[in-house]
This record gives sequence, structure tokens and C-alpha cells, in this order.
Amino acid sequence: MKLAINERYGTVEVIKLIDAPVPKISSNQVLVKVVAAALNPKDILVRKGKFKRFTGKKFPQSIGFDFSGTIEDPGTSSYEKGEQVFGMLNGWQGRCCAEFVNIDAKELYKMPDNLSFEAAAGVPLVGQTALQAIRDIGQLKSGQKICINGGSGGVGTIAIQIARALGGIVTSVSSSKNLEFCRSLGAHYSLAYSETPILDSKDRFDVFFDVFGNYSFKETAHLLTDQGKYITTVPKPDIFKELIWNFWRKKKAKLVVVKSKRADLNWLHDQLEEEKIKPVVDKVYPLSDIKAAQEYIESKRAKGKIILQLGQVGGEGLIS
Ligand SMILES: NC(=O)c1ccc[n+]([C@@H]2O[C@H](COP(=O)([O-])OP(=O)(O)OC[C@H]3O[C@@H](n4cnc5c(N)ncnc54)[C@H](OP(=O)(O)O)[C@@H]3O)[C@@H](O)[C@H]2O)c1
Repeated sequence: MKLAINERYGTVEVIKLIDAPVPKISSNQVLVKVVAAALNPKDILVRKGKFKRFTGKKFPQSIGFDFSGTIEDPGTSSYEKGEQVFGMLNGWQGRCCAEFVNIDAKELYKMPDNLSFEAAAGVPLVGQTALQAIRDIGQLKSGQKICINGGSGGVGTIAIQIARALGGIVTSVSSSKNLEFCRSLGAHYSLAYSETPILDSKDRFDVFFDVFGNYSFKETAHLLTDQGKYITTVPKPDIFKELIWNFWRKKKAKLVVVKSKRADLNWLHDQLEEEKIKPVVDKVYPLSDIKAAQEYIESKRAKGKIILQLGQVGGEGLIS
């Protein structure tokens, strides 16, 4: 089968497409024929060696953390061969940019009927990140205010929609060219960081979700309600200090670390089928263009998700 790997840590030049044996499944795993895989900033950080503590020194390292496809071998699970699924791998060993992936049955769920494979592949990592940040860590309640900094990217586009689905009053922050786009996703208020700096706002938020991760708790604390929560996606050193200070204050600083859970994929599946959430796909590339696809993610200008096509099954109805 075709498999995308990093030969070593470095630029996109270390990415290679190789032929590899179809992976075997262990107990609790299923084998999925991948139709589409998503790319995420995590793939770039791993390739550049930013998380060597977790990714180690062994090469080649295969690429990709979330996907959609069909069950090839259900193992001991209740899935059936041919069933359409989407999922995300936990941990640091990506391997979804491949024609087949072996994965724990708890890390995937049946795919929403109304989505193309390309649209579904982009949901598991960013959707679970946003859900776990806003619902579980932020505990956002209906009628509460949330600010989503970085509303137009992979996590932001689904975060706006999840916050709305939970009843939140949503302010998004993006570039000026994406103001209307964020409004169209459901943001009540849409601010451009170049024109209306969020740090100057007189508003108070129950949750400040720093998706882009360029603010600290200290910088945003004045924007929080008395018991408000700042949640970042980026594990910068200051957040670990702030996590300790949480014990002595009402306003909290939090870090989201996404985990793939069947129950959360189920929640996303239902919202997607009810069309309360719509995946946003920016560009779809063939697997052979993985370098260009990663360079686009690295530009930090992606408007929604970047998807790679792997298989031939379905795939009709691409979202532009
Ligand atoms: N901790 C976790 O578990 C976890 C999980 C998922 C993601 N993450 C992290 O979350 C971050 C976002 O991920 P993603 O998938 O959403 O990335 P992404 O899709 O690559 O984000 C691209 C977006 O960033 C926006 N952006 C660029 N400069 C900005 C600025 N100064 N202020 C606000 N927005 C800006 C761009 O919007 P404009 O063009 O409108 O500026 C673009 O739409 C990454 O650092 C990723 O590693 C962490």
C-alpha cells in the first residue's frame, strides 16, 4: 500500500511516499481502507521535531492523525466490512496518510450519512478539540459569552458552530478578509484582529478560547467574567505555570489536549447528520501533493480543513 512518511525531522523535503505492507490488526483494532485523510498543524510540528520527547528518534515516521474510510477488517468489533467510518488516532504515531490504517475501535465511529468522505475526514481531530475545549473544559452554558480567537481555521470553523449548538453567544476573531465567513458560520459578532484588537474590548467572556494561541492568560484575564476560563490549544511554558496558579483564583487558565473518544465522535456524528454543524473544507489534494498541502497548512492561512484523497470509494460531492 502507499504510505506517507517523514524520513527524518526537517522541511517538507523529508516527506516521501513509499510502498509498505498493509498493517496487521491487534486485539481491539479494526483495519480501515482510507478514502480521505486530514492534515493538521500537528503533522507539521511532528515533522519539524517540535515534540521529539514524544515522537522519538526512530524513522521513518508515518504521517496523519484523522481520516474517513471503510471497514476492511472489523476484527472483534461490531463494525461490518464496508461500513463507512471516521476517526482519529490518539498519541503521537500518525499513520492515516496511507491506503490502510489499523486503529483501536474506540477511536472511530460510523460516518455521518450526509457527508462526503472528504468532508468527514476533516472533523475528528478539530471537532473533538473544539468540543472538549468548549463543552468539557469551558463548561459553556446556553446564553453565555464565548470569544473564539482564530475563528477561520480548522479548529475555529467548527468551534464557532459547536459554541452556537451549545447556545453560546459567539464572538470570533479573524483577519478582516474572513469577517463575513465567520459570521456565516454562526458568529454573532466577528472582529478583525488588525482593526479591532480583542484586548481593547470592553466585553466580558465566560470562555476565551485561544485557538490560534497567540495570547496568554495574563493578557486576556481582564476579558474574563469573574469565573471565566481562558483555554489555549498551544502548550507554551507559561500555561503550565498558570495551571498551578488556578488553585488560588476564580478565573482559570486551561490547556486543551484532544483525546479521541467514541462518545465525542458520536456527538459530532449526530450534530453533523442534523446539519447543526457543517464541515468546512478549504482544499483537497491528491496524496501525491502532500508536500504542497503541508506547505499550505504551514502558511497559517487555511480557511477550514486541508484534505488528502487516498482511495477510490465514494468521495463524490466535494465541498468547495
Ligand atoms: N492542544 C490540542 O489538542 C490541539 C488540537 C488541535 C489543534 N491544536 C493547535 O491549535 C492551533 C490551531 O489549529 P488549526 O487546525 O485551527 O490551525 P489552522 O487551520 O492551520 O489555522 C489557520 C488559521 O489561523 C488563523 N490565523 C492566522 N494568524 C492569526 C492571528 N494572528 N490571529 C488569529 N487567527 C490567526 C488564520 O485565519 P486568518 O487568515 O483569518 O488570519 C487561519 O484561518 C494550532 O496551533 C494547532 O497545533 C491543538
